[in-house]
Formats: sequence, C-alpha cells, structure tokens
Amino acid sequence: MKCRHIQITCSSGVSNVYVREGLLSHAAKFIQQKKAVIITDDNVAKLYLGDLLRSLEARGISAHPISIGVGESVKSLKTVERIYAFLHECKIKRSDCIISLGGGVAGDIAGFVAATYMRGIALAHIPTTIIAQADSSIGGKCGVNYNGIKNLIGIFYQPNLVLIDTGVLKTLSKRDFNSGMAEVIKYAALFDKEMFFALETAPYDLEEIIYKCCKLKAILVEIDEFDKRERHILNFGHTFGHGIEAASNNELTHGEAVAIGMVIASRLAEKYFFASKGTTDRLKRLLMKFSLPTSTKLDIMPHIEFDKKAEGEHINIIALKEIGRVMSISLPLDELKAFCCEVMNELCE
Ligand SMILES: NC(=O)c1ccc[n+]([C@@H]2O[C@H](COP(=O)([O-])OP(=O)(O)OC[C@H]3O[C@@H](n4cnc5c(N)ncnc54)[C@H](O)[C@@H]3O)[C@@H](O)[C@H]2O)c1
Repeated sequence: MKCRHIQITCSSGVSNVYVREGLLSHAAKFIQQKKAVIITDDNVAKLYLGDLLRSLEARGISAHPISIGVGESVKSLKTVERIYAFLHECKIKRSDCIISLGGGVAGDIAGFVAATYMRGIALAHIPTTIIAQADSSIGGKCGVNYNGIKNLIGIFYQPNLVLIDTGVLKTLSKRDFNSGMAEVIKYAALFDKEMFFALETAPYDLEEIIYKCCKLKAILVEIDEFDKRERHILNFGHTFGHGIEAASNNELTHGEAVAIGMVIASRLAEKYFFASKGTTDRLKRLLMKFSLPTSTKLDIMPHIEFDKKAEGEHINIIALKEIGRVMSISLPLDELKAFCCEVMNELCE
C-alpha cells in the first residue's frame, strides 16, 4: 500500500516511519515477528485494540495485549514492573516484539520496557494522539517519571517501526486534540514559517502537517541521536513546561504546559534578548486559536530547579528570534528566576 515514508538511520539501525490514514488495519503487513505484546491504555484499547488484533491474527501473529490504565500517573516503574511480569508470563523471547498502541504515555513506557527486557527486543509504535504521532514516537526517547520528576528514569531506544494512522485522531477529545497541536505549533514556530502561516489561516491538511513534523524530527535525530547538541532545540517550551506540568500536579496536560512554556521563553527573548517584536503575540494568538493556555499563576520555579535540565547554576533556554528562527539563551539560575517572574506576572495581567 502507498504510504508516506521516512527512514531514520541511527546507531542501532534504521527506523521506518509510515504515515497514512487507515494504516492500523494493515499493521500486520509491516510486522516481521511471529509473536507480540501490545502495550495500550484503557481508552485506546476500547477504540482500536480490536482492529489491531484482527490484523495480526489474520497474518498468524500471536498477540498478547496489556492495558496500563490512563494518564501521566501510570508512567511509573510500578507499571513497568507489571509489564515485565506479563512478558515473562507470556514467555516473550528476544525474537518477539513489543507494540505500543496509544499516546505518548503508552509509547514512552513501551519503549523503556522494550529497551530493558532481555537487554532489548524489537519495538513498533502505533501512536494514536497528535503528540505521539508528530513527536514522541520518533527519536527513541523513552522512560518513566520518578519522585514527581518527569522522565527522570529513561533511555534512548529507537523503534524499528512507527505506523501513523491519522484516522484515529478523530476520536480524540477536544482537549487532547488541542494539546497535541501545541507540539505541532512548536515545530512550526521553530522551523517552518509556512506551516505556521497555514495553521493561522486554516484549512490545513493535518496528515501533511504531522508528516512534516516527523521529517523535521527525523533530521534532528539523525544529526544528534542522543540529544547532546542540536536536538536541544526541541526543548522549546519544555524547560518551563515540565515545571508547569509538575506544579499543576498534572492538572494541565503536557501540551498545555508546553504552550505556556513556549510563551514564557518567547517573551523572555523578546524583552531581554532582542528577539523580533510581535513574535510572542503571534505565537499566543495561534495557541489561543486551539484553546491553549498562554499564562499561569503557578509557582513553577521550585520545579524548574529540580528539573534534570538545570545543569550547575546555568539553564539553557530555547526561544524564537522570530517565527521560523531559533535562538538559544544561557542564563544563571538566579537571573532566570528574576526575569521569568517579571515575564510571568506581565503575561497574567
Ligand atoms: N518521548 C518523547 O520524545 C516525548 C515527546 C513529547 C511528549 N512525551 C510524553 O508524552 C506524554 C503525553 O502524550 P499524550 O498527550 O499522547 O498523552 P496520553 O498518552 O496520556 O494520551 C492522552 C489521552 O488521550 C487518550 N487517547 C489516546 N489516543 C486516543 C484516540 N485516538 N482517541 C481517543 N482518545 C485517545 C488517552 O487514553 C489519554 O487519555 C507525556 O508523558 C510526555 O512526557 C514524550
């Protein structure tokens, strides 16, 4: 079947990414193993597990599903341990594979399990949210939260296969759809002013936009697989975003927190580092079009200090020089705190 295709070459081999509406019911054609464990969440299982099981069974692949619950709180070592026990019970071998079917939470957990069970078994992602399709299923970052800190325990482990069926996005709640659009807007704001304009003016082709985000991420992953330099750009909105997500006790979704984080970083650059005037207002308008928040009164600083990105006394912030152009700011923690408090108060006015 004809699909959009991206090949990502990494140290462990090649990841193949296919994008096409309706791909889920043809998933088995892309799977080479004879036995698979499917890691999914309770909501997605009700909607899409049946389609995937039918496809696998029709090709003689023996499939064993496990559902992990729902939400950020299940991204934990406890869930990982439960899955290890299930894999053991199902007698999963290194020649079998793990399939994630779900959003970023299922994908991050499945990746961690695949990387560590028997020192690594094959991994396929079937992402079902915009965040997972446009971002998290690509690039091999996986892990779990620990002691209230996002993604504290993790590893890089590249999927062999990513199957993106944009048709499944139609069942997302409005809130999850909009949260995902925050990550899409991040890619557009950082790299692609035409995409940004398309989102501003609508109608836009969501499948084309997701494919473009995947291609942009694939380029960065090939250049900097282990997130040591260039890939840091994708942290735009996340240094503050992770702090906001934690400060809100996960009341805000990942995408909502990233939306606020992008606005703070952008305003900071505009106010103190000569970024182009009007950039933040344009970013805010687009985020608001997708009902995303652009400010918060939460006290995020204690959470940023403990974020693993706080190296020594300096923090690197990715921001926008203008729409489509990136800049990086390095600030001592104390200065960042002072600037940030000022910017956040202004944004709340
Ligand atoms: N690994 C990475 O590079 C990376 C990048 C960005 C985000 N993330 C992680 O991703 C997570 C956020 O991802 P998310 O927003 O996908 O969260 P999620 O997996 O919790 O999904 C959000 C909600 O959507 C539901 N859902 C999923 N697909 C659906 C569908 N097709 N129809 C109806 N409902 C559906 C889920 O059940 C859940 O309630 C965070 O943990 C974040 O840290 C990881």
